[in-house]
Amino acid sequence: MHMKHIQHSDPVIAGFIMQEIRRQEEGLEMIPSENNTSLAVMEAVGSPLTDKYSEGYAGKRYYGGNEFIDKIEIEAIDRAKRLFGADHANVQSHSGSDANLAAYLAVMNPGDTFLGMDLTCGGHLTHGHKVSAVSRIFRPVQYKVDKKTELLDFDEIAALAREHKPKVIVAGATAYPRTIDFAKFGEIAAEVGAKLVADLSHIAGLVVTGVHPHAFPYADIITTTTHKTLRGPRGAMILCKAELGQAIDKSVMPGLQGGPLDHVIAGKAVAFGEALQPGFKHYAQQIVKNAKVLEQVFAAAGLRLVTGGTDNHLLLVDVTPLSLTGKKAQNILGSVGITVNKNTVPFDTRTPFDPSGVRLGTPSLTTRGMKEDDMKKVGDLIVRALTKAHDEAALELVRGEVRELAKQFPIHPELLA
Ligand SMILES: Cc1ncc(COP(=O)(O)O)c(C=O)c1O
Repeated sequence: MHMKHIQHSDPVIAGFIMQEIRRQEEGLEMIPSENNTSLAVMEAVGSPLTDKYSEGYAGKRYYGGNEFIDKIEIEAIDRAKRLFGADHANVQSHSGSDANLAAYLAVMNPGDTFLGMDLTCGGHLTHGHKVSAVSRIFRPVQYKVDKKTELLDFDEIAALAREHKPKVIVAGATAYPRTIDFAKFGEIAAEVGAKLVADLSHIAGLVVTGVHPHAFPYADIITTTTHKTLRGPRGAMILCKAELGQAIDKSVMPGLQGGPLDHVIAGKAVAFGEALQPGFKHYAQQIVKNAKVLEQVFAAAGLRLVTGGTDNHLLLVDVTPLSLTGKKAQNILGSVGITVNKNTVPFDTRTPFDPSGVRLGTPSLTTRGMKEDDMKKVGDLIVRALTKAHDEAALELVRGEVRELAKQFPIHPELLA
């Protein structure tokens, strides 16, 4: 992989790409939904496969010339099935939001009710937030977390399920720092005759390595993005029980999309191959160990952590006790080279544009090779920045230390050579 052609033909865009590569290298990327793919994945995604049209599925395409594309997609499906222990896999979804819509359309009719997690409590837009298209097609009912513990409240979920008789229950989250009990969700879904859709987007890498309990056999359908803890290219996939395979495939194509992104499917296959290696389990374990170190450092500094801590790859810090808002905290950390994202906390009274918390995680730093001692430094840097937000000299020191630390853990030095 190199940049020499684009540098020659389009120096404007090449310049911006180089700036972004440098930003990633010189800072600490702690948005929990981000990661760093291997150069092998990038080579696949940057390959001439981007030029091919291949509407349909292997052996049943609407275009000619797909003999090699078929092989790649079959291999991606086979690896995805092995990785998740699934009967059926569809690797064509362009994004997690598309995958969720495809899953819902496969098992619901417009107007049907579904139960998903409220956004401020950690759910995704596509789990039933009012601004999402899914909520214009289906009728969302939202469950929250327990006000005191900030944990999933299965009594409330069961009560809502009994009252509303949803066709689908969605388990999974975008900002929930604790283990999700899919077995309990499965019990509730079985009791009310709902299909259980587990959206593993954030935790897929932890689930396939056994670091987080699996959603199978409880879930009827698993949806997941491929670019978060799973460390693949931007995109998504759907896994399901055999009897739903045909409905899922139809729902994805021709239901929602025409041609698949064959270059991305090749990148997914490469990433799945990487995730099937034994080393990936160590990676997933280290993600959680690193998050636990942050938990300890933050707790010792008196920061308020939603749910009191973490079991997975992410932490949610309520920054209002520090007289900050999520937006301010994101900006301060950004100014010293630590990228996090502002996030609501459960029952937030502030808006998603300037919420009460920040969400941060360890997948990218763990990919860079950081371990417990390094995370202690990272935690200290974050605490110093947040508690000395108005002390420019202190922030300057933190900025220098962030740069130094980042330099010790290059992502892809080849790309800067
Ligand atoms: C749980 C969950 N589901 C779905 C999505 C949507 O994925 P995408 O951004 O690829 O549409 C996300 C992304 O943040 C997510 O966290």
